[in-house]
Amino acid sequence: MTVPRLELAGVRKRFGSRQVLDGLDLAVMPGESCVIIGASGTGKSVTLKCVLGLISIDAGSIKVDGGEVAGLKGAALDAHRARFGMLFQGGALFDSLSVWRNVAFALPGTAASRKTAAIDNLARVGLGPEVADLRPAELSGGMQKRVALARAIAARPPIIFFDEPTAGLDPITAAVINRLIRELVSDLKITALTITHDMASVREVADRVAMLHGGRIIWHGPRASLESCGNPYVHQFITGSAEGPIKPVGLKP
Ligand SMILES: Nc1ncnc2c1ncn2[C@@H]1O[C@H](COP(=O)(O)OP(=O)(O)OP(=O)(O)O)[C@@H](O)[C@H]1O
Ligand SMILES: [Mg+2]
Repeated sequence: MTVPRLELAGVRKRFGSRQVLDGLDLAVMPGESCVIIGASGTGKSVTLKCVLGLISIDAGSIKVDGGEVAGLKGAALDAHRARFGMLFQGGALFDSLSVWRNVAFALPGTAASRKTAAIDNLARVGLGPEVADLRPAELSGGMQKRVALARAIAARPPIIFFDEPTAGLDPITAAVINRLIRELVSDLKITALTITHDMASVREVADRVAMLHGGRIIWHGPRASLESCGNPYVHQFITGSAEGPIKPVGLKP
């Protein structure tokens, strides 16, 4: 039997009086593209940060290729993090660094070899060498997102997290980014975990979908069963309805 690449079991995390994750279970198999959907503030980004070891969990277990993440420190934690590429919510490029230095940020080697590698990765996401020496602020939002994707794949990590990859993009640019993610997942044979509110992303990117609500995964299944799953939370989310069991955070019913 194949070991899940990522396995979260009974994960709990609270901030102050707010129990954000409350027994979250999720398994992602090697090479699979899993998408987590869920309303704003439900703990999607927190989940990714827990897996990366940026936030410590209160209870439960997080395993990557069978090895426990909780309690890792120092060099072991660094080695753990090196297995991940991350597209942060909002892109999060370094404004003061050129495009190529952003892409090559985590790559070892000489400046010349790192720049060559950066230009190769920029080509993978459809950007030419002419952008290499520009600053992120000189690019459009869609181009910045491509640079952030190039940075996420540059070290060829076996697992990549995409946090809201299409947020703030027009529908056409978003479709290009979604297709790019799908191609990268297939071509580079990575395991991908994507977080999104964007149903177009779900359709393009997901092999499997998991819905987070109330600190738990309340439904998961293949992408093709999403529409017909009969779960009222999923139904409300995918139809974008104000009526249903999900109450927006911070609003009185
Ligand atoms: N470091 C932190 N300290 C305290 N509270 C935090 C911290 N990080 C996240 N939270 C809280 O945890 C909850 C979940 O946040 P998270 O960023 O995971 O939401 P999300 O599901 O990614 O939402 P969105 O779709 O809006 O990005 C929020 O209430 C947030 O305020
Ligand atoms: Mg988030």
